[in-house]
Amino acid sequence: MKRIVVVGTQWGDEGKGKITDFLAQHADVVCRYQGGNNAGHTVIFDDKKHSLHLLPSGILNPKIFNVMANGMVINPKAFVEEISKLKDFKLAISNRAHVVLPFHSELDRAYESSKTNKIGTTHKGIGPAYTDKAARIGMRMSTFIHEERFYQQLIDMVDQKNKELALYHFSKLDAKQIFDEFKVYAKQIAPYVTDTSVLLNQQIQDNQKILFEGAQGVLLCLDHGTYPYVTSSSPTAASVPVNTGIAPWLIDGAIGVTKAYTTRVGEGPMPSEIFGDLAHEIRTKGKEFGTTTGRPRRIGWLDTVILRHTKRVSGLTYLAVTLLDVLSGIKTLKIVTQYDLKGEIIDYIPSDIEDFELCKPVTIDMPGWDQDITQVKSYDELPIEAKNYLSKLSDLIGVDIAIFSVGPDRNQTISIKDIF
Ligand code: IMP
Repeated sequence: MKRIVVVGTQWGDEGKGKITDFLAQHADVVCRYQGGNNAGHTVIFDDKKHSLHLLPSGILNPKIFNVMANGMVINPKAFVEEISKLKDFKLAISNRAHVVLPFHSELDRAYESSKTNKIGTTHKGIGPAYTDKAARIGMRMSTFIHEERFYQQLIDMVDQKNKELALYHFSKLDAKQIFDEFKVYAKQIAPYVTDTSVLLNQQIQDNQKILFEGAQGVLLCLDHGTYPYVTSSSPTAASVPVNTGIAPWLIDGAIGVTKAYTTRVGEGPMPSEIFGDLAHEIRTKGKEFGTTTGRPRRIGWLDTVILRHTKRVSGLTYLAVTLLDVLSGIKTLKIVTQYDLKGEIIDYIPSDIEDFELCKPVTIDMPGWDQDITQVKSYDELPIEAKNYLSKLSDLIGVDIAIFSVGPDRNQTISIKDIF
């Protein structure tokens, strides 16, 4: 396959950054196609931890060309901060990507503070920025890097947003102050801004290997996720063409990244959720705290209803299973196979969030393993129970496993099948 999408199959934080980084060793281009700095990718190699929020995971490799496509919403301040830590990289930013400005994060806080049923957003202004895009009042990169046009649009936007912020008793923002600060960022960003659809199509013509990197996970998709507890873009493989400006048939496949269990940050139903000592043990061992907000993640058993949903709405050619080592030492592992909704056994995610809230997990038990597997270098070296767990997972979803990982380092990621 030449053009592969890396998709998060759950509620985000599946380890997509690590899998992208692993596959990127054979890629020419890594392209991020949605979301903004609500995402958090941690890539560890040479014992160094790299936390990325906006930048594509290929940015740490000077040979790889990185693209931030039109489907993204980009906070210029966050971008400049992230890029300032790096030296040698290749990058292009879409002139059609939208810009996240200070009033977007303020509105994000304002909306959340006024709700009884909070979504638990990252407060990064992602929802309000996509709202502006859909309402056709957002600011594109091409405007942002044009000083006069940026100023004109900013004045109008701040004027309108201040009226809205006042309704929530939030302080007014000063347009001139934002302009003075952000025009400096615009100058730093301008050299990277281009038509990335033209660029990507040229790279495809040149037979380059491209990885499309999703942020978040399919269960946070605006259309196919657990609405309204979702983000404001689509992390599915299906959204790549519109979010990058390439034809759908140019995508060869999607690798779905799943944890060996389930996590979720923010609010909303999670039928597989577990509590108490076991949840605490998994959270601690798996370092399950948000990269962006530091919030403790909720923990659940592996939920295959969710994974089959992801396969159907996004398309998955192969699976990459991460954090398998975290399950070592648990005597019996449960896998969710279906839900019980008011006595009816179902195999789908109800579209109505109230019904989803009522779903109880139907589970099977799998024997766990005791051995430390963090030094395992091949599938054959895994204990039989771990092999059985992986093959059950694969059978229940109907997708082959191509990669699994047993630790955070790049060399703890093991390839079963060459896919790139
Ligand atoms: P927003 O994307 O900040 O609007 O947040 C909407 C929902 O998506 C919240 O539940 C967030 O916790 C969740 N979310 C957004 N980005 C990520 C991510 O990268 N990993 C996990 N959850 C995320």
